[in-house]
Amino acid sequence: MSKIGVIGGSGLYGIKGLVLKSRKKINTPFGNPSEQYLMGEMENVDIIFLPRHGKHHNIPPHMINYRANIWGFKKLGVERILSVNAVGGIRKGLRPGDIVIMNQILDMTKNRKTTFYDGKEGVVHIDFTEPYCPELHQILLKAGKRVKVPVKNGGTYVAVEGPRLETASEIKSFAILGGDVVGMTGMPEASLSRELEICYSSICVVANYAAGISKNKLTVAEVMDTMQAATEKLKILLRETFTLIPEQRKCACKDALKEAKI
Ligand code: HPA
Repeated sequence: MSKIGVIGGSGLYGIKGLVLKSRKKINTPFGNPSEQYLMGEMENVDIIFLPRHGKHHNIPPHMINYRANIWGFKKLGVERILSVNAVGGIRKGLRPGDIVIMNQILDMTKNRKTTFYDGKEGVVHIDFTEPYCPELHQILLKAGKRVKVPVKNGGTYVAVEGPRLETASEIKSFAILGGDVVGMTGMPEASLSRELEICYSSICVVANYAAGISKNKLTVAEVMDTMQAATEKLKILLRETFTLIPEQRKCACKDALKEAKI
């Protein structure tokens, strides 16, 4: 069975119930990943876990070595990544604690290394019309139904540079552009995964109302408390998802580099 990668975000530095087998430090041509990879097993499926902010949450979003993290997964034989992201909720009706399986992205990041292909290995333009794996998307929806963890079907992730939170006007403009949630880590993880033909799906946990939506001041404590409260739900959702993922991929992600090179 192929291996499944899980990237933990704020508040998720491990998966409860994961039977840990080993830890692996990986070196990559792009530098060091955020942390050692935790190699484990759950429901007889090989799982590789990485906390993107480091296990002690010491790496801010704009300093994460996204290329090293995704390259490391590829090196370890991972074909699919489930990413957990804390986000601010923009769309009306989204509330802290809600889980959304994303299907679109608006990338507002500015200063990140966004590709593995800087020209040496040819010029590559991957198709990113559908930025998340549609197969994993359907499996996550099905898993949520089966274990009665409510998940919302689809939404647009606005990726911002951070580390500061947004202004109220920024959030208003993101809403006009069609943004549903806002976060600091969803890009370039998604596109880097596509460049390595890894399926990638984002499970977003609404940690707070985005700036200006609630009258309250945004605090890190609120984000962490909401994420903490969601860990049990996430574990149940992930466990069921692992059991539903088939051995063979049918999606286009696995062939992303075909017809993408000049
Ligand atoms: N904005 C950006 N990133 C976030 C937020 C937010 O409101 N909450 C959690 N991550």
